[in-house]
Amino acid sequence: AQGAQVLVASNRGPVSYTVEDDGSLRAKRGGGGLVSGLSAIGPDAGALWVCSALSDGDREAVRRGAGEDGVRMLDIPADVHADAYNGIANSVLWFVHHMLYQTPLEPVFDAEFRRQWASYEAYNRAFAEALAEESAPGAAVLVQDYHLTLVPGMLRELRPDLRIAHFSHTPWAPPEYFRMLPDDIAGQVLRGMLGADRLGFLTHRWADAFTACCERFAGGLGDTRIGVHGLGADADFLRARSHEADVEERIVALREEIGEGRRTIVRVDRTELSKNIVRGLLAYRQLLDDHPEWRERVVHIAFAYPSRQDLAVYRDYTAEVARVAEEINERYGTEGWRPVLLHLKDDFARSLAAYRLADVALVNPVRDGMNLVAKEAPVVSDAGCALVLSREAGAHEELGEDALTVNPYDIVETAGALHEALTMGPEERAERAKRLTAAATALPPARWFLEQLEALRETGGRG
Ligand code: G6P
Repeated sequence: AQGAQVLVASNRGPVSYTVEDDGSLRAKRGGGGLVSGLSAIGPDAGALWVCSALSDGDREAVRRGAGEDGVRMLDIPADVHADAYNGIANSVLWFVHHMLYQTPLEPVFDAEFRRQWASYEAYNRAFAEALAEESAPGAAVLVQDYHLTLVPGMLRELRPDLRIAHFSHTPWAPPEYFRMLPDDIAGQVLRGMLGADRLGFLTHRWADAFTACCERFAGGLGDTRIGVHGLGADADFLRARSHEADVEERIVALREEIGEGRRTIVRVDRTELSKNIVRGLLAYRQLLDDHPEWRERVVHIAFAYPSRQDLAVYRDYTAEVARVAEEINERYGTEGWRPVLLHLKDDFARSLAAYRLADVALVNPVRDGMNLVAKEAPVVSDAGCALVLSREAGAHEELGEDALTVNPYDIVETAGALHEALTMGPEERAERAKRLTAAATALPPARWFLEQLEALRETGGRG
Protein backbone atom coordinates (compact mmCIF):
# COMPACT_ATOMS: atom_id res chain seq x y z
CA ALA A 1 0.00 0.00 0.00
CA GLN A 2 0.99 3.61 -0.61
CA GLY A 3 1.67 6.06 2.17
CA ALA A 4 3.51 6.16 5.48
CA GLN A 5 2.83 3.78 8.36
CA VAL A 6 3.83 6.24 11.08
CA LEU A 7 3.25 9.98 10.84
CA VAL A 8 4.03 12.83 13.21
CA ALA A 9 2.36 16.22 12.87
CA SER A 10 3.47 19.42 14.58
CA ASN A 11 3.69 23.10 13.80
CA ARG A 12 7.47 23.28 14.24
CA GLY A 13 9.38 20.60 12.46
CA PRO A 14 12.82 19.12 13.08
CA VAL A 15 14.65 21.53 10.74
CA SER A 16 14.32 25.04 9.43
CA TYR A 17 16.09 26.49 6.41
CA THR A 18 17.78 29.75 5.58
CA VAL A 19 18.77 30.88 2.10
CA GLU A 20 22.49 31.66 2.05
CA ASP A 21 24.07 34.46 0.00
CA ASP A 22 25.08 31.99 -2.71
CA GLY A 23 21.46 30.83 -2.97
CA SER A 24 22.01 27.49 -1.25
CA LEU A 25 19.78 26.30 1.57
CA ARG A 26 21.21 25.81 5.07
CA ALA A 27 19.38 23.53 7.52
CA LYS A 28 19.26 24.25 11.27
CA ARG A 29 17.77 22.16 14.08
CA GLY A 30 14.44 23.43 15.48
CA GLY A 31 14.19 24.46 19.17
CA GLY A 32 11.88 23.72 22.12
CA GLY A 33 10.88 20.65 24.08
CA LEU A 34 8.70 19.14 21.39
CA VAL A 35 11.44 18.99 18.79
CA SER A 36 14.03 17.79 21.36
CA GLY A 37 11.74 14.93 22.25
CA LEU A 38 10.81 13.93 18.77
CA SER A 39 14.21 14.34 17.16
CA ALA A 40 14.96 10.82 18.38
CA ILE A 41 12.86 9.60 15.47
CA GLY A 42 15.12 10.36 12.54
CA PRO A 43 14.16 9.55 8.96
CA ASP A 44 15.67 6.09 9.55
CA ALA A 45 12.71 5.25 11.76
CA GLY A 46 10.63 5.41 8.58
CA ALA A 47 8.24 7.99 9.99
CA LEU A 48 6.95 10.96 7.99
CA TRP A 49 6.99 14.27 9.86
CA VAL A 50 4.37 16.78 8.64
CA CYS A 51 5.05 20.36 9.82
CA SER A 52 4.61 24.01 8.83
CA ALA A 53 6.98 25.98 6.65
CA LEU A 54 7.87 28.74 9.13
CA SER A 55 10.52 30.87 7.44
CA ASP A 56 11.22 32.21 3.95
CA GLY A 57 13.93 29.57 3.75
CA ASP A 58 11.41 26.85 4.58
CA ARG A 59 9.03 28.08 1.89
CA GLU A 60 11.90 28.15 -0.58
CA ALA A 61 12.77 24.57 0.38
CA VAL A 62 9.16 23.54 -0.32
CA ARG A 63 9.23 25.32 -3.69
CA ARG A 64 12.45 23.60 -4.68
CA GLY A 65 11.26 20.27 -3.36
CA ALA A 66 14.53 20.30 -1.44
CA GLY A 67 13.35 19.26 2.00
CA GLU A 68 14.92 16.44 3.98
CA ASP A 69 13.72 12.87 3.61
CA GLY A 70 10.94 12.03 5.99
CA VAL A 71 9.76 15.65 6.37
CA ARG A 72 6.84 17.26 4.54
CA MET A 73 6.52 20.99 5.15
CA LEU A 74 3.13 22.56 4.50
CA ASP A 75 3.29 25.96 2.86
CA ILE A 76 0.23 27.40 4.60
CA PRO A 77 -0.61 30.96 3.38
CA ALA A 78 1.37 33.38 5.56
CA ASP A 79 -1.66 35.29 6.87
CA VAL A 80 -3.53 32.11 7.80
CA HIS A 81 -0.46 30.78 9.58
CA ALA A 82 0.09 34.06 11.43
CA ASP A 83 -3.52 34.08 12.70
CA ALA A 84 -3.34 30.46 13.80
CA TYR A 85 0.18 30.47 15.27
CA ASN A 86 0.44 33.97 16.72
CA GLY A 87 -3.19 34.94 17.21
CA ILE A 88 -4.69 31.71 18.52
CA ALA A 89 -2.00 29.20 19.49
CA ASN A 90 0.64 31.39 21.15
CA SER A 91 -1.68 34.08 22.44
CA VAL A 92 -4.91 32.50 23.58
CA LEU A 93 -4.21 28.77 23.88
CA TRP A 94 -0.67 29.09 25.27
CA PHE A 95 -1.89 31.60 27.85
CA VAL A 96 -4.89 29.51 28.87
CA HIS A 97 -2.90 26.27 29.18
CA HIS A 98 -0.17 27.92 31.25
CA MET A 99 -2.69 29.97 33.21
CA LEU A 100 -0.77 33.13 32.35
CA TYR A 101 -3.78 35.38 32.09
CA GLN A 102 -4.17 37.43 35.22
CA THR A 103 -5.78 40.81 35.65
CA PRO A 104 -5.07 43.18 33.94
CA LEU A 105 -3.70 40.88 31.22
CA GLU A 106 -6.90 39.13 30.28
CA PRO A 107 -8.24 38.04 26.92
CA VAL A 108 -10.86 39.90 24.93
CA PHE A 109 -12.74 37.55 22.65
CA ASP A 110 -13.86 39.97 19.97
CA ALA A 111 -14.62 39.78 16.26
CA GLU A 112 -10.89 39.77 15.48
CA PHE A 113 -10.49 36.68 17.64
CA ARG A 114 -13.33 34.99 15.72
CA ARG A 115 -11.64 35.83 12.44
CA GLN A 116 -8.35 34.38 13.70
CA TRP A 117 -10.16 31.30 14.93
CA ALA A 118 -11.41 30.68 11.38
CA SER A 119 -7.77 30.72 10.28
CA TYR A 120 -6.89 28.29 13.06
CA GLU A 121 -9.56 25.95 11.70
CA ALA A 122 -8.24 26.32 8.14
CA TYR A 123 -4.70 25.68 9.33
CA ASN A 124 -5.80 22.56 11.22
CA ARG A 125 -7.71 21.41 8.15
CA ALA A 126 -4.60 21.77 5.98
CA PHE A 127 -2.77 19.41 8.35
CA ALA A 128 -5.67 16.95 8.48
CA GLU A 129 -5.86 16.84 4.69
CA ALA A 130 -2.11 16.36 4.25
CA LEU A 131 -2.12 13.57 6.84
CA ALA A 132 -5.12 11.88 5.20
CA GLU A 133 -3.30 11.98 1.90
CA GLU A 134 0.04 10.69 3.22
CA SER A 135 -1.18 7.90 5.51
CA ALA A 136 -1.16 4.23 4.55
CA PRO A 137 -4.29 2.22 5.49
CA GLY A 138 -4.41 1.75 9.27
CA ALA A 139 -1.35 3.99 9.81
CA ALA A 140 -0.51 5.51 13.20
CA VAL A 141 -0.64 9.32 13.29
CA LEU A 142 0.82 11.20 16.25
CA VAL A 143 -0.40 14.80 16.37
CA GLN A 144 1.46 17.25 18.62
CA ASP A 145 0.40 20.16 20.76
CA TYR A 146 -2.01 23.07 21.08
CA HIS A 147 -1.49 24.28 17.54
CA LEU A 148 -3.26 21.19 16.22
CA THR A 149 -6.11 20.45 18.64
CA LEU A 150 -8.72 20.14 15.87
CA VAL A 151 -6.71 17.73 13.71
CA PRO A 152 -7.69 14.45 15.43
CA GLY A 153 -11.43 15.07 14.94
CA MET A 154 -11.01 16.29 11.35
CA LEU A 155 -8.71 13.43 10.43
CA ARG A 156 -11.01 10.84 11.95
CA GLU A 157 -13.78 12.02 9.58
CA LEU A 158 -11.52 11.91 6.55
CA ARG A 159 -9.86 8.60 7.44
CA PRO A 160 -11.76 6.43 9.96
CA ASP A 161 -9.21 3.64 9.40
CA LEU A 162 -6.32 5.51 11.03
CA ARG A 163 -5.05 5.22 14.58
CA ILE A 164 -4.77 8.72 15.91
CA ALA A 165 -2.94 10.07 18.94
CA HIS A 166 -2.50 13.60 20.22
CA PHE A 167 0.18 14.68 22.68
CA SER A 168 0.21 17.92 24.71
CA HIS A 169 3.66 19.31 25.50
CA THR A 170 2.08 22.05 27.62
CA PRO A 171 0.23 22.04 30.91
CA TRP A 172 -3.56 21.78 30.87
CA ALA A 173 -5.66 24.19 32.91
CA PRO A 174 -8.35 22.99 35.32
CA PRO A 175 -12.02 23.62 34.39
CA GLU A 176 -12.37 26.83 36.44
CA TYR A 177 -9.60 28.37 34.37
CA PHE A 178 -10.26 26.65 31.04
CA ARG A 179 -13.82 27.98 31.01
CA MET A 180 -12.34 31.39 30.26
CA LEU A 181 -12.53 30.34 26.59
CA PRO A 182 -15.87 30.98 24.86
CA ASP A 183 -18.08 27.89 25.30
CA ASP A 184 -18.23 26.96 21.64
CA ILE A 185 -14.45 27.29 21.24
CA ALA A 186 -13.75 25.25 24.37
CA GLY A 187 -16.13 22.60 23.03
CA GLN A 188 -14.39 22.53 19.65
CA VAL A 189 -10.97 22.14 21.27
CA LEU A 190 -12.08 19.30 23.53
CA ARG A 191 -14.11 17.48 20.89
CA GLY A 192 -11.31 17.94 18.36
CA MET A 193 -8.85 16.25 20.70
CA LEU A 194 -11.34 13.55 21.65
CA GLY A 195 -11.33 12.52 17.99
CA ALA A 196 -8.08 10.75 18.91
CA ASP A 197 -7.84 7.17 20.15
CA ARG A 198 -5.21 8.22 22.65
CA LEU A 199 -4.28 11.49 24.29
CA GLY A 200 -0.90 11.93 25.92
CA PHE A 201 0.23 14.34 28.62
CA LEU A 202 3.55 14.96 30.35
CA THR A 203 2.28 14.60 33.92
CA HIS A 204 -0.69 13.34 35.88
CA ARG A 205 -1.59 16.86 36.91
CA TRP A 206 -2.20 17.96 33.30
CA ALA A 207 -3.94 14.70 32.36
CA ASP A 208 -6.29 15.02 35.33
CA ALA A 209 -7.09 18.63 34.47
CA PHE A 210 -7.93 17.64 30.91
CA THR A 211 -10.15 14.81 32.10
CA ALA A 212 -11.94 17.19 34.46
CA CYS A 213 -12.52 19.65 31.58
CA CYS A 214 -14.01 16.86 29.46
CA GLU A 215 -16.28 15.72 32.26
CA ARG A 216 -17.48 19.23 32.83
CA PHE A 217 -17.78 20.55 29.27
CA ALA A 218 -17.84 17.62 26.83
CA GLY A 219 -19.82 14.85 28.52
CA GLY A 220 -16.72 12.81 29.43
CA LEU A 221 -13.88 11.15 27.56
CA GLY A 222 -15.94 8.74 25.44
CA ASP A 223 -13.74 6.08 23.80
CA THR A 224 -10.55 8.08 24.12
CA ARG A 225 -7.77 6.74 26.35
CA ILE A 226 -5.47 9.02 28.32
CA GLY A 227 -1.80 8.24 28.92
CA VAL A 228 0.96 9.99 30.87
CA HIS A 229 4.38 9.85 29.24
CA GLY A 230 7.00 11.90 31.08
CA LEU A 231 9.55 12.78 28.45
CA GLY A 232 13.08 12.43 29.84
CA ALA A 233 16.51 13.66 28.81
CA ASP A 234 18.63 11.82 26.27
CA ALA A 235 21.70 11.06 28.40
CA ASP A 236 23.81 9.40 25.69
CA PHE A 237 23.27 12.18 23.19
CA LEU A 238 23.79 14.97 25.75
CA ARG A 239 26.96 13.51 27.24
CA ALA A 240 28.54 12.94 23.85
CA ARG A 241 27.43 16.26 22.38
CA SER A 242 28.56 18.25 25.41
CA HIS A 243 32.14 17.02 24.99
CA GLU A 244 32.54 18.02 21.36
CA ALA A 245 35.08 20.64 20.32
CA ASP A 246 32.63 23.51 19.82
CA VAL A 247 31.33 23.07 23.38
CA GLU A 248 34.86 22.93 24.80
CA GLU A 249 35.63 26.19 23.01
CA ARG A 250 32.61 27.86 24.54
CA ILE A 251 33.60 26.61 27.98
CA VAL A 252 36.90 28.44 27.62
CA ALA A 253 35.10 31.62 26.55
CA LEU A 254 32.53 31.38 29.35
CA ARG A 255 35.24 30.81 31.97
CA GLU A 256 36.83 34.00 30.76
CA GLU A 257 33.55 35.89 31.23
CA ILE A 258 32.87 34.35 34.64
CA GLY A 259 36.30 35.01 36.13
CA GLU A 260 38.50 32.96 38.46
CA GLY A 261 37.09 30.90 41.31
CA ARG A 262 33.45 31.96 41.08
CA ARG A 263 30.35 29.81 41.51
CA THR A 264 27.69 29.72 38.80
CA ILE A 265 23.91 29.79 38.77
CA VAL A 266 22.73 28.77 35.29
CA ARG A 267 19.39 29.13 33.54
CA VAL A 268 18.51 28.39 29.91
CA ASP A 269 15.09 29.24 28.49
CA ARG A 270 13.21 30.52 25.53
CA THR A 271 12.38 34.13 26.50
CA GLU A 272 8.78 33.69 27.33
CA LEU A 273 6.45 34.70 30.15
CA SER A 274 5.79 31.24 31.56
CA LYS A 275 9.54 30.80 32.20
CA ASN A 276 9.47 33.54 34.86
CA ILE A 277 12.91 34.89 34.02
CA VAL A 278 12.35 38.32 35.54
CA ARG A 279 11.44 36.92 38.96
CA GLY A 280 14.49 34.67 38.69
CA LEU A 281 16.65 37.77 38.25
CA LEU A 282 14.92 39.48 41.17
CA ALA A 283 15.60 36.42 43.33
CA TYR A 284 19.27 36.59 42.37
CA ARG A 285 19.32 40.29 43.34
CA GLN A 286 17.68 39.34 46.64
CA LEU A 287 20.44 36.79 47.19
CA LEU A 288 23.06 39.48 46.73
CA ASP A 289 21.21 41.66 49.26
CA ASP A 290 20.54 38.95 51.84
CA HIS A 291 23.99 37.40 51.51
CA PRO A 292 26.50 40.07 50.51
CA GLU A 293 29.21 37.47 51.01
CA TRP A 294 28.26 36.13 47.55
CA ARG A 295 29.11 39.41 45.84
CA GLU A 296 32.10 38.93 43.55
CA ARG A 297 31.92 35.20 44.27
CA VAL A 298 29.00 34.10 42.11
CA VAL A 299 27.83 34.73 38.53
CA HIS A 300 24.32 34.23 37.17
CA ILE A 301 24.51 32.85 33.63
CA ALA A 302 21.13 33.53 32.03
CA PHE A 303 20.51 32.40 28.47
CA ALA A 304 17.12 33.67 27.33
CA TYR A 305 16.56 32.88 23.70
CA PRO A 306 13.80 35.02 22.12
CA SER A 307 10.92 33.27 20.37
CA ARG A 308 7.54 34.35 18.95
CA GLN A 309 8.81 37.87 18.51
CA ASP A 310 5.93 38.76 16.17
CA LEU A 311 3.85 39.14 19.33
CA ALA A 312 4.20 42.28 21.45
CA VAL A 313 3.80 40.48 24.81
CA TYR A 314 6.81 38.27 24.04
CA ARG A 315 8.85 41.20 22.68
CA ASP A 316 8.09 43.35 25.70
CA TYR A 317 9.03 40.52 28.02
CA THR A 318 12.37 40.09 26.25
CA ALA A 319 13.04 43.81 26.74
CA GLU A 320 12.06 43.58 30.41
CA VAL A 321 14.46 40.67 30.98
CA ALA A 322 17.31 42.68 29.41
CA ARG A 323 16.41 45.77 31.45
CA VAL A 324 16.37 43.99 34.81
CA ALA A 325 19.63 42.15 34.08
CA GLU A 326 21.28 45.44 33.15
CA GLU A 327 19.97 47.11 36.31
CA ILE A 328 21.52 44.39 38.48
CA ASN A 329 24.82 44.68 36.66
CA GLU A 330 24.85 48.44 37.10
CA ARG A 331 23.91 48.38 40.75
CA TYR A 332 26.16 45.53 41.96
CA GLY A 333 28.81 45.05 39.29
CA THR A 334 32.44 45.96 39.99
CA GLU A 335 35.40 46.38 37.74
CA GLY A 336 36.26 42.69 37.68
CA TRP A 337 32.81 41.21 38.26
CA ARG A 338 29.71 41.18 36.06
CA PRO A 339 26.97 39.63 38.24
CA VAL A 340 24.65 38.59 35.37
CA LEU A 341 25.82 37.19 32.05
CA LEU A 342 22.72 37.51 29.88
CA HIS A 343 22.87 36.11 26.36
CA LEU A 344 19.94 36.33 23.98
CA LYS A 345 21.33 34.72 20.86
CA ASP A 346 20.34 31.06 20.58
CA ASP A 347 23.40 28.81 20.73
CA PHE A 348 22.89 25.15 21.64
CA ALA A 349 26.62 24.45 22.07
CA ARG A 350 26.91 27.37 24.51
CA SER A 351 23.87 26.12 26.46
CA LEU A 352 25.64 22.78 26.90
CA ALA A 353 28.83 24.59 27.96
CA ALA A 354 26.85 26.46 30.63
CA TYR A 355 25.29 23.20 31.87
CA ARG A 356 28.75 21.71 32.22
CA LEU A 357 29.94 24.65 34.30
CA ALA A 358 26.78 24.86 36.45
CA ASP A 359 27.01 24.69 40.23
CA VAL A 360 23.31 25.49 40.47
CA ALA A 361 20.59 25.24 37.82
CA LEU A 362 17.64 27.61 38.27
CA VAL A 363 14.33 26.46 36.76
CA ASN A 364 11.50 28.59 38.14
CA PRO A 365 8.61 28.68 35.61
CA VAL A 366 5.20 29.85 36.76
CA ARG A 367 3.93 26.86 34.77
CA ASP A 368 5.64 24.41 32.45
CA GLY A 369 4.48 21.21 30.76
CA MET A 370 7.72 19.46 31.77
CA ASN A 371 10.84 21.64 31.40
CA LEU A 372 13.73 19.70 29.92
CA VAL A 373 16.39 22.08 31.26
CA ALA A 374 15.66 20.74 34.74
CA LYS A 375 16.47 17.29 33.39
CA GLU A 376 19.38 18.16 31.11
CA ALA A 377 21.47 20.30 33.46
CA PRO A 378 22.02 17.63 36.17
CA VAL A 379 22.94 15.09 33.48
CA VAL A 380 25.51 17.31 31.80
CA SER A 381 27.05 19.33 34.65
CA ASP A 382 30.65 18.31 35.39
CA ALA A 383 30.41 18.81 39.14
CA GLY A 384 26.84 17.56 39.57
CA CYS A 385 24.75 20.70 39.93
CA ALA A 386 22.12 21.44 42.55
CA LEU A 387 18.66 22.14 41.13
CA VAL A 388 16.35 24.94 42.29
CA LEU A 389 13.01 23.92 40.81
CA SER A 390 9.56 25.46 40.68
CA ARG A 391 6.78 23.25 41.96
CA GLU A 392 4.81 24.42 38.91
CA ALA A 393 7.10 22.66 36.41
CA GLY A 394 5.92 19.25 35.25
CA ALA A 395 9.44 17.97 35.95
CA HIS A 396 8.76 18.56 39.64
CA GLU A 397 6.53 15.47 39.70
CA GLU A 398 9.65 13.37 39.02
CA LEU A 399 12.51 15.47 40.42
CA GLY A 400 10.88 17.14 43.41
CA GLU A 401 12.53 14.99 46.04
CA ASP A 402 16.10 15.87 45.17
CA ALA A 403 15.57 19.42 43.97
CA LEU A 404 15.14 22.51 46.16
CA THR A 405 11.49 23.32 45.61
CA VAL A 406 10.25 26.89 45.24
CA ASN A 407 7.01 28.73 44.72
CA PRO A 408 7.82 30.64 41.51
CA TYR A 409 6.13 33.81 42.72
CA ASP A 410 8.10 33.88 46.00
CA ILE A 411 11.30 35.78 45.37
CA VAL A 412 12.51 35.66 48.96
CA GLU A 413 12.06 31.90 49.11
CA THR A 414 13.80 31.49 45.75
CA ALA A 415 16.73 33.60 46.95
CA GLY A 416 16.94 31.39 50.03
CA ALA A 417 16.93 28.26 47.87
CA LEU A 418 19.73 29.69 45.72
CA HIS A 419 21.78 30.29 48.86
CA GLU A 420 21.09 26.79 50.11
CA ALA A 421 22.05 25.34 46.73
CA LEU A 422 25.31 27.31 46.67
CA THR A 423 26.25 26.24 50.19
CA MET A 424 25.24 22.58 49.88
CA GLY A 425 28.14 20.28 50.79
CA PRO A 426 29.82 18.53 47.88
CA GLU A 427 28.76 15.08 49.07
CA GLU A 428 25.10 15.94 49.39
CA ARG A 429 25.18 17.70 46.06
CA ALA A 430 26.75 14.71 44.33
CA GLU A 431 24.26 12.33 45.93
CA ARG A 432 21.32 14.42 44.86
CA ALA A 433 22.73 14.95 41.37
CA LYS A 434 23.04 11.20 40.97
CA ARG A 435 19.40 10.64 41.88
CA LEU A 436 18.28 13.62 39.76
CA THR A 437 20.13 12.17 36.79
CA ALA A 438 18.53 8.77 37.26
CA ALA A 439 15.04 10.27 37.43
CA ALA A 440 15.72 12.68 34.56
CA THR A 441 16.79 9.94 32.17
CA ALA A 442 14.20 7.31 33.13
CA LEU A 443 12.29 7.72 29.86
CA PRO A 444 14.61 8.84 27.06
CA PRO A 445 13.01 10.36 23.92
CA ALA A 446 13.23 7.27 21.73
CA ARG A 447 11.47 5.12 24.36
CA TRP A 448 9.02 7.91 25.12
CA PHE A 449 8.00 7.84 21.47
CA LEU A 450 7.88 4.05 21.11
CA GLU A 451 5.83 3.73 24.27
CA GLN A 452 3.16 5.94 22.72
CA LEU A 453 3.32 4.20 19.37
CA GLU A 454 2.86 0.79 20.98
CA ALA A 455 -0.01 2.01 23.11
CA LEU A 456 -1.65 3.46 20.01
CA ARG A 457 -1.26 0.23 18.07
CA GLU A 458 -2.91 -1.66 20.92
CA THR A 459 -6.02 0.49 20.70
CA GLY A 460 -6.73 -0.94 17.25
CA GLY A 461 -8.38 2.22 15.89
CA ARG A 462 -12.10 2.70 15.44
CA GLY A 463 -12.46 2.18 11.68
C1 G6P B 1 6.90 24.59 23.42
C2 G6P B 1 5.75 24.00 22.63
C3 G6P B 1 6.24 23.52 21.28
C4 G6P B 1 7.00 24.63 20.56
C5 G6P B 1 8.14 25.14 21.45
C6 G6P B 1 8.92 26.28 20.82
O1 G6P B 1 7.80 23.59 23.78
O2 G6P B 1 5.15 22.97 23.34
O3 G6P B 1 5.13 23.13 20.49
O4 G6P B 1 7.52 24.17 19.34
O5 G6P B 1 7.58 25.58 22.67
O6 G6P B 1 8.07 27.34 20.49
P1 G6P B 1 7.94 27.88 19.01
O7 G6P B 1 6.75 28.79 19.01
O8 G6P B 1 9.23 28.59 18.75
O9 G6P B 1 7.77 26.68 18.11
